[in-house]
Amino acid sequence: MFDSIEDVQKRLGDQGYICDKAVATVVFLATRLEKPVLVEGPAGVGKTELAKATGAALGCPLIRLQCYEGLDEAKALYEWEYSKQLLYTQILKERFSQAMEGATSVREAADRIGQEDSVFFSERFIVPRPLMRAITSEEPVLLLIDEVDKSDPEFEAFLLEILSDFQVSIPEVGTVEAKRRPVVFLTSNDQREMSDALKRRCLHLYIDFPGQEQELRILDSKVPGVDQRLAEDVVRLMHGLRELDLKKAPSISETLDWARALLALNAKELEEGLVQDTLNVILKYEGDIRKAQSELGRLLERKPEPPKPAEPVTAKSEEPAPAPAASSASPPGPAASSASPPGPAASSAAPPAPKPAAKKGRLH
Ligand SMILES: Nc1ncnc2c1ncn2[C@@H]1O[C@H](COP(=O)(O)OP(=O)(O)O)[C@@H](O)[C@H]1O
Ligand SMILES: [Mg+2]
Repeated sequence: MFDSIEDVQKRLGDQGYICDKAVATVVFLATRLEKPVLVEGPAGVGKTELAKATGAALGCPLIRLQCYEGLDEAKALYEWEYSKQLLYTQILKERFSQAMEGATSVREAADRIGQEDSVFFSERFIVPRPLMRAITSEEPVLLLIDEVDKSDPEFEAFLLEILSDFQVSIPEVGTVEAKRRPVVFLTSNDQREMSDALKRRCLHLYIDFPGQEQELRILDSKVPGVDQRLAEDVVRLMHGLRELDLKKAPSISETLDWARALLALNAKELEEGLVQDTLNVILKYEGDIRKAQSELGRLLERKPEPPKPAEPVTAKSEEPAPAPAASSASPPGPAASSASPPGPAASSAAPPAPKPAAKKGRLH
């Protein structure tokens, strides 16, 4: 259990996850109120990583349910192990024959076998899937329901039941109640809007692209060894790229990939030729690459941010007072109402944009 919001920030930091106070507040409340957290935001901003880091910080094993179109209860909750049931019927063939001995009609034989079928529909023959494993676990676990927006609305409705009661009813066996409520994270990349009912049951957290300072800290934590000046240039250029109206804005994942690529290439500074040659590490659509190429000169000429007081950014261990929050805790239900309100948008760290970003979740 976390002691305080600061404790969350510190322990997530120990796991290499850099978060601001808004994110830490939601995580703190989720563990205190035993409420699931629905984390939304663009791809690659650290939603899945937040769940993993929280699990690691709490020392809880992670049980992950990766959602996809067509995911159903059998894959998410439990299914009967037919092959084992069949094997048992083969092995127990003789016993069945004995049980049916003396039966004068087919109906009577079937009735006698029917009396035994509870043996075959018992926990022995259940294959637990992630939700069931999380509910029945003896030790506290962190359940990550990842990319829930990829599942069908029917599946979302089914999840509601689990998330409100933490129990499952299996017709043949009865109700299985959670021994210990898992810490639950759901993530969504905004592929579709989640229902109000689901949102109501969860604390809501929106993670946007980080401000420049935060992204530098993430870079420092995940790819140590990058020269400070180069890291700053990388982050500044990434922020410039995010202001272009691209089909897929580069995310933190791309910042990290690019920094690793530059390290591998022994790059000391960002010069235009090098950036042109490595744009495919950060942009995944030809149209985006062309657009970025045409703007590159202008983006590379950008001046660094106004100087910051004293020590280098990456050495800082805590947020500056009016931290430009890259994420916002938006509490839909009463439970979350004490989560800190969203700070200024992530873009507050970015220089004035010639063109406002067009898509949701971008810098504004
Ligand atoms: N705040 C953060 N601190 C440390 N690493 C981060 C942070 N945010 C994102 N990352 C890194 O960025 C990458 C993408 O994160 P991920 O959780 O997979 O994104 P998402 O689930 O939002 O698509 C991962 O390598 C992760 O380690
Ligand atoms: Mg993810």
